[in-house]
Amino acid sequence: MKGRLEELRRQAEAELSAARSRDELSAIRTKYLGRKGLLTAVLRGLGSASESDRPALGRLSNEIKEAVSSRIEEEIRRLDEEAKSRSLQAEKIDVTLPGRRIVSGNLHPITQIRNEICEIFAGLGFSIVEGPEVEFDYYNFEALNMPKDHPARDMQDTFYISDSIVLRTHTSPVQVRIMEKRKPPVRIIAPGKVYRCDSDVTHSPMFHQIEGLLVDRGISFGDLKGVLTSFARQVFGEKTRLRFRPSFFPFTEPSAEVDIQCVICGGSGCRVCGQSGWLEILGSGMVHPEVFRIVGYDPEEVTGFAFGLGLERIAMLKHGISDIRLFYENDMRFLSQF
Ligand code: FA5
Repeated sequence: MKGRLEELRRQAEAELSAARSRDELSAIRTKYLGRKGLLTAVLRGLGSASESDRPALGRLSNEIKEAVSSRIEEEIRRLDEEAKSRSLQAEKIDVTLPGRRIVSGNLHPITQIRNEICEIFAGLGFSIVEGPEVEFDYYNFEALNMPKDHPARDMQDTFYISDSIVLRTHTSPVQVRIMEKRKPPVRIIAPGKVYRCDSDVTHSPMFHQIEGLLVDRGISFGDLKGVLTSFARQVFGEKTRLRFRPSFFPFTEPSAEVDIQCVICGGSGCRVCGQSGWLEILGSGMVHPEVFRIVGYDPEEVTGFAFGLGLERIAMLKHGISDIRLFYENDMRFLSQF
């Protein structure tokens, strides 16, 4: 029996040395130590050994059982260690590798310039309001001193929805809507989309304007010049020179268009400014007394100024963009530069 035990020990050890996986090890455990295992069978047969041999055989078989069992545990630990170090090796992180860039979106250049201009006017005490893009002919034209058949309506090529409803051609109707609702003093700006049947490198059928309106007692053309000069210098730089050029709008009198010294050539004359050295950025003027009468303000009591600027025009000047259509082609190579 002793010989059989020793033989089982050798056999088990050889098998354990050859085992390469947890499954093989647990098969060996069952084979030798399980309920019907080979060593278990020998132990069961102890009863048939002579009484004098039994204690020594008992000790030996327990010793072999324990040796096999602890060898199995040891092999399992070794296999686990090996697996762990293999996976650590495979998952090794090289912290010196350059990181992957996370591509994040950015605001559209027109949105950026709108936010910038709104902030400038907020700093000058103006609050922001909005009006509808689909507008009554009344607000877009009539209440702005442009009755039906007024020749000034031809200044803007209008998209008509019906006889009395248009896509607004400018943000000026917001002036009327606000004055109808509020008593003076009024100090607002109104950013938004406007529409005109117009399309080339500097004109888009949909573009953005910001309207400004300030009404109070004793407002003069000097106030208009002061506010617009401060605005232009904050957008284009402290040294920017401005020119107020007489113009005509039916809803302001007197009216002026504002030019800034060409940001491309500095005033010496180039292709962008048509060799004039100046670039137009907005229309403005003192609110026409007729508009005040239409909204129920007394033109003897209050005066005010209004202005309307084209956002695309300002963004083009600021960034040196020569074609307005680039803003609306959704080309990421263009948009991601801002
Ligand atoms: C107006 O729209 C007046 N409502 C401005 C105004 C407001 C005057 C308050 C007096 C008082 P005008 O049509 O000039 O004016 O347009 C104003 C600006 O919009 C222009 O200076 C120009 O920058 C821009 N603009 C006009 N048409 C287009 C177009 N098709 N595409 C892009 N920008 C345009």
